[in-house]
Parts: sequence; C-alpha cells; structure tokens
Amino acid sequence: MRKIVFLTGAGMSVESGFKTFRGNDGLWENYPVEQVATHEGWENNPTLVTNFYNMLRKKLYDAEPNKGHKLIKDLEENYKVTVITQNVDNLHEKAGSTNVIHLHGELTKVCSSREPYNPEYIRELTPENCEITPGMLAGDGSLLRPFIVFFNENVPMIEPAAEVTSKADIFVIVGTSLNVYPAAGLVQYVPATAPIFLIDPEEVNASGWRNITHIKKGASQGMEELIQEYRI
Ligand code: APR
Repeated sequence: MRKIVFLTGAGMSVESGFKTFRGNDGLWENYPVEQVATHEGWENNPTLVTNFYNMLRKKLYDAEPNKGHKLIKDLEENYKVTVITQNVDNLHEKAGSTNVIHLHGELTKVCSSREPYNPEYIRELTPENCEITPGMLAGDGSLLRPFIVFFNENVPMIEPAAEVTSKADIFVIVGTSLNVYPAAGLVQYVPATAPIFLIDPEEVNASGWRNITHIKKGASQGMEELIQEYRI
C-alpha cells in the first residue's frame, strides 16, 4: 500500500467549531500564550493553566469531527495513512483514524508534572469526568498537569513523525501556518519524489519548497478537491 502522510494544524478543526491560534480573534489573542502554554506559565500559576485546559476539554467533548477529518479516515481503505497533528483535540481519532501522532500532546489526557511521559502516571479522562480540580495530584504525588507540550519544552514525538515523513509517497499539509518548529521543519524530510499538497484558504509561507500544490480551500472542500481532482 502507498503511504500518505498528513500534517494537520488548527485549521483542520475550524469547521468543528475551534478557533485557530494566530488568526484574527485567534486563541492566543484572547489568552496570553505566556500564561497558558509555557512551562513558566505552568510554574507560576498551575490553577489558571488547569482551568484553561478544563475549558478547552469541555468544549472538545461537545465537538464532532468534520468532513475533512472523515475523508482523511476514509483514505485508509486505499493507503497506509499516518496523521501527524499539532492539534491537541481528538477529532482525528473520533473520525476513526487509526494512526495518529500527536506532536503537541492530547487534551483528553493528564500526567505527572514531574515525569510527564511516564506512562504509569498518564491518565485518559472521560467526558463525564473531564474536569481537573486545581491541586489534584498524579500517582507520584506531583501536581497533575495537562498532557500538553508547552512552548519551550521538548517535542519527543517529532522523531517518529520525521521517520514516517521520510517514507511518505504523498505528503499533505492541512490548516497550519507553519510558524512553529520543529513541526514546520518536517517538510524537509519529505522524499524528493513525493508530491506535497497544502490545503489552506490563506497564503502560507512555503517559499523555497519544491513540487507543492496549494489547494486554497478550507479543510473539507480542500480534501474533496484533493481526492477528486488529483485522484488521491
Ligand atoms: N480549513 C483549513 N485551514 C484553515 C481553515 C479551514 N477552515 N481556517 C483557517 N485555516 C488555516 C489558517 O489560514 C492558518 O494558516 O489554519 C492555519 C492555522 O494556523 P495557526 O493558528 O498558526 O495554527 P497552527 O499552525 O496549528 O499552530 C501551530 O502553535 O500555538 C501553537 O501549539 C499550538 O499546535 C499549535 C501550533
């Protein structure tokens, strides 16, 4: 089976009711990123950070995958599909995608603040039980923290993501401004023979890339066009 690899960002989930980060009225305009998405922010005020992710998590459990997510899942009939996502939502999984790499963590999980990647202390939350009371502790006695990769922290999943990208037959980027590294750097790993598609209604700074086709549409319409016009 041919391998198709997707790199998705906030734009993927816009049609499911989520805001992007950097656009007009983006999330980072309303919530200071230094406070809610950095390691220092967490150290300074874990209650604020816990409440922020509680709010996003509640919203997530009411959200549904959109047609774009579903069309990506449907490609599993004909391709080996890997989705590398910067999104912390679980909408790819909810659409049925079976092979999802989360670069920036997962909203549905919480972990130890001392050892965030120790699987023993990672807990999957449920819709009925998705709110973390500030001060709650992980199994090792440290504060429970959202399983989110904050800015200025390492991105351990970048290694498997780079590995899978380096073997792609087709690479498709959906809804990311490609401002944040190391995710944006994955494009460098795409084999020279693989076509790259970019689905985004806006211009994205992709200068210097070769062999790239920009489908200037939203995620759902863009996925439809990818499948119909380009016979993917
Ligand atoms: N369909 C597809 N793309 C869309 C849509 C849509 N309906 N609406 C907007 N977009 C595009 C925007 O044009 C923009 O290029 O989605 C992109 C969103 O860019 P950002 O807000 O910068 O989000 P993203 O690239 O995912 O951010 C990367 O930065 O803030 C951190 O950790 C956070 O994972 C996030 C990372």
